[in-house]
Order: sequence, then structure tokens, then C-alpha cells
Amino acid sequence: MRRAHYPGRMPAPEIVLTQRFQSAFAAAFGPEHAEADPIIRPSQFADFQCNAAMGLAKRLGRKPRDIAADILAHVELSDIAEEPQIAGPGFLNIRLRTDWVAAQAAELAADPRLGAPVPERAETVVVDYSAPNVAKEMHVGHLRTTVVGDSIVRTLEKLGHAVVRQNHIGDWGTPFGMLIEHLLEVGEDGPEAELLKTDPNAFYQAARAKFDGGGDFAERARRRVATLQSGDAESLRIWTNLVDLSKQYFHRIYDMLDVTLTDEHLAGESTYNDQLESVCEDLEADGIARISDGALCVFPEGFTGRDEQPLPLIIRKSDGGYGYATTDLAAIRHRVRDLGADRIAYVVGTAQELHFRMVFTTASEAGWLPESVEPTHVKIGSVLGEDGKILRTRSGASLRLMALLEEAVATARTVIDELRPDLPEAEREQIAHDIGIGGVKYADLSTAHDSDYTFDLDRMLALTGNTAPYLQYAVARIRSIGRRAAAEGVTAAEAPLVANDAERALALQLLEFGPTLAAVGAEYEPHRLCAYLFSLAQAFTAFYDASPILKEADAEVRAGRLALAELTERVLVEGLDALGVNAPQQM
Ligand code: ARG
Repeated sequence: MRRAHYPGRMPAPEIVLTQRFQSAFAAAFGPEHAEADPIIRPSQFADFQCNAAMGLAKRLGRKPRDIAADILAHVELSDIAEEPQIAGPGFLNIRLRTDWVAAQAAELAADPRLGAPVPERAETVVVDYSAPNVAKEMHVGHLRTTVVGDSIVRTLEKLGHAVVRQNHIGDWGTPFGMLIEHLLEVGEDGPEAELLKTDPNAFYQAARAKFDGGGDFAERARRRVATLQSGDAESLRIWTNLVDLSKQYFHRIYDMLDVTLTDEHLAGESTYNDQLESVCEDLEADGIARISDGALCVFPEGFTGRDEQPLPLIIRKSDGGYGYATTDLAAIRHRVRDLGADRIAYVVGTAQELHFRMVFTTASEAGWLPESVEPTHVKIGSVLGEDGKILRTRSGASLRLMALLEEAVATARTVIDELRPDLPEAEREQIAHDIGIGGVKYADLSTAHDSDYTFDLDRMLALTGNTAPYLQYAVARIRSIGRRAAAEGVTAAEAPLVANDAERALALQLLEFGPTLAAVGAEYEPHRLCAYLFSLAQAFTAFYDASPILKEADAEVRAGRLALAELTERVLVEGLDALGVNAPQQM
């Protein structure tokens, strides 16, 4: 796990506690222990516990309970917590002082970043995500690489990192001979060419059928690949047209999904064409690649196949062609050398794990990936149908992503039409979009990115459970309280009220936003943000059940609770925004 650094004052309790305990470690056991992890965790018996005594005891060769007592004697917590209790083998249970929690909540309310820590050094993070293939349907697998990737870039930007989005689309390779020939036959301006913008899979299948159907089409397709690769101007022109039509399709999907990718982020496989030769030459000159069975191969350290034979990464096929691995090597070199990446995240399907491990190892051996640069394959699991198999239509073709999204919006529309017939048509349309798309995206994001999940619209759009509509409804509910308050002339206090147990529990949840966001940015795990927002919304419900706002007679209490509710709204909206999910004004 990467260590996050939190300079300056931070309202989150575990960060303040960490600083206090580390000072105590240094005072009690010597400065060499000043950086020991105090292992601050939420506690069943108090607010937090410090679990460091056991580890320190081992290191120092003493009894854990004695160490705990020593820590207790040196830690200065009186301004923030009640006297900690030693429990079990040496846990320290910490209950925070309510006045301190209130002060931290007030600081949070005054912070435009809502507690998101400022990184010690802003990093340049290259995020490779979405990456569909030209003239092929974006299938649900690309839905996930798109949605998870977009949430990661939004989160990193909120934290203050410089993000470089790279959409590594599949826009080069052997299928383009067949696609170009087909496009010529159906006419570049004809109705069938339009399919590239609306139903690219149908276009691809038609080309494929001709290719497999005998005749001289296959031969022409093969010749076309050769002329395209040799730089023939006419072939390149048609290819560009094909890619342009496909881009329009991608952007229709991205618009529908409220994804931040635009044309300027496109850096498809073809971008690296003129660098592939030098990649091969450099690797060969350095003795990293060698000819094996006519192909130029790298045998990266530590990879063996069956019979313990070294596993090859083919970088130039025996026919002279380059493939996916060569492109990725050129891309990694470019990202480090020219884009200045400190970290590179590849949001790509789990199936490509071996590919990336081999590419990363090769790039390190070549000196293109220094140790200071951290590459991560953010592995994306599959989307399954109700039968537990990869989601497909009945005919077995992969499901059209656009059709799926349209169905989600239409389903949300029937729900909102029933729920809020009083709202104007245009508003209901927007709400249906936010719920339908938000529901699909959130279901994807709330599952750990490397596990599979079952596509189930009913569950995705449910108003209860860990779903987008549940969180969107929580926001809409607070906003409606705000509208009523304004109508009644009630204004919120400057600082949220933190007095009773429910207010205190809600405030403690709110203070976790910053550390959660930082963890998601460090570990690329949006599902942790979802889990956090879900428990925050639950804490809000518990608070609102226990503590009336507008019905409260005491004006000061009323204003303080309203401030707490508004802070909750801000954190929920900001968190949903990091996920790329819109929060409607009302529901
Ligand atoms: N186009 C590929 C696919 O659909 C994903 C590309 C991922 N990025 C990369 N740098 N290899 O599977």
C-alpha cells in the first residue's frame, strides 16, 4: 500500500491521531520509531483504536501491555480525546471528545476541498482507459474500463494530481484490410457506412461475412493491409474516414455516460506506428530481444510457460508485422519520457494481466520504465448475464452497449413518471437520465473492479441498498429540506451542530471523506468511495430520524442541524461527482 502524506492541518481524526501517536513513539522509544505506523482503526468499543503496541513490543522485545502503558504515558491527547483505555493484549481504545469532533466538523465545513488532502507533491498520472476498438461494438467490457477509468481520473484531479488521459483505441491491425474493402464496396457516403456511427458491430459482421464467404474479397483484404501499412495515400485516407466515423460512435457513448473523454485524449495504437521499428532495434541492440523461429522476441526474466520454457513476448512477427506488445512498449516509453509520468494506470480487462506483466518487465529491462515510475494494471472483471456467463444477447452476439444504456434510462423514466408526475417533462427526462446512467455506472463502480458482477437493471435502479438512486435520493431529500428551510426563512448556522450521538456519528462519517478519497486515488479502488458514501447516507438517515431539523423548536439547534445536513449534501455530491454520477435537484 502506498503511504499517503498529509501535510498541514487535516480535520480527519485518524490523521491527527497518527501524528499524536508518532510523537509519542519517538518520545517513549526513541526517534527511530517516529515513523512507525500507529495502526489507527475504527473500533467497535470506542471511536478508534490504536493497534501499534503488539508490533512495537515485538521489535523492542517487551510485553505488549507494557508498551501500551508506555504509549499512554507519552501520548498527548487530552485536547482531542478522553483518556484512552487499554484493552485485550494491548489495544488502545480512543473515544474522541465531542467538542473536538464539532471543531473538526466546523473546519470541514469551511474547507472548499471538503478535507481532501493536498498531496505533498502533485504527481503526473497517466491513465489508460476505455480503449474500445474501431469498427467494433463497444461491449459491456468497455463499459467497465470506461466507467472505472473515468472515476479514477476524476478522483485524482480532485486530489490535485496532473492527470493525462490516454484512450488507447484499437485503430490498427489486420482487420483494417477487410474493413476498408467493405467500406469501399458499400460506398463511403452510403447508408451502410452510417452503421459505423450507430451499430459498428453490424458493419464489422458484414465485412467479416464477406471475408469468410470465399471469392476474392479475402485476397483483396489482405492486399489492402499491405498497401495500408506501406503508407499508400488512398488506403490511409479511407482508413482515416473509418476511424473518424468510429470516433463519432465512441463520443455518442461517452456523452450518454457523462464521461470526460474527448478527441484530445485519443492516442490509439496507430499513434505509435513510426516508433515500432526503433523499439525493436533498441531492444535488439541491447541484447534484450532476439530472433526465435523467425520472430523477434523478448524473453523477460521470470516468465515461463509449459515445461518451464521461457515465455516469449513477440515484438516483430516473422512476416515483419508488429503487434499489440510492440505498441504497448512504444506507449510506455512515450508516457515516461515525453509525458513525464510518475504513475501509469492501465484500466484494462483481467485477461490481459500476463501481457502487462511481460510488457512492464520488458520496459524495465530496457530502461524505459525507471523504478520511480509505478505502473499498475487496474484489472477489470467481467459483466455477467443472469445465467452467470459473459453478458450477451440471445443470439450470442455481444450486447449493444447503447441499447443497454437506453433501456436503463427508459426504465428510470417509468419510475420517475410514476413518482413525480408533477414535475415538468424536461426535468423528468433529465432525472431519468441521471438515475438510469448513474445506476448503471454506480453498480459497476461499487463492485471491486477485479471481480465479476451480474448485470441486473432492477437491482441497479432500486431505491434501497447500495445503489446510485439511494444516494441520489438522499441528496434530493436534503435539498428539499433546504428548499423548505429557505421558504420558512430558516438559515443554516456557520458551523454544524455536533452534540447528540446521531449528530456525532454523522460528523465522524463526514470527516472520513478526505482519507477515503486519498485512498481511492492511491489504490485505484472506486468501490471504497461507494461503500463510504453508502454508510454516510445511512448515517444521515439515522441522524434525521433521531434529530428533527425544521420541526425543532430551538432556533440555534435547528440552524446547527441544518448546517450538518448541508455539509452532508456537499460531501455526497462531491463524492458522487468523483464517481461521475449526477445528483438531481429533486426526485
Ligand atoms: N483495445 C484493447 C481491448 O479492447 C484495450 C487496450 C488497453 N490499453 C493498452 N495500452 N493496451 O482489449
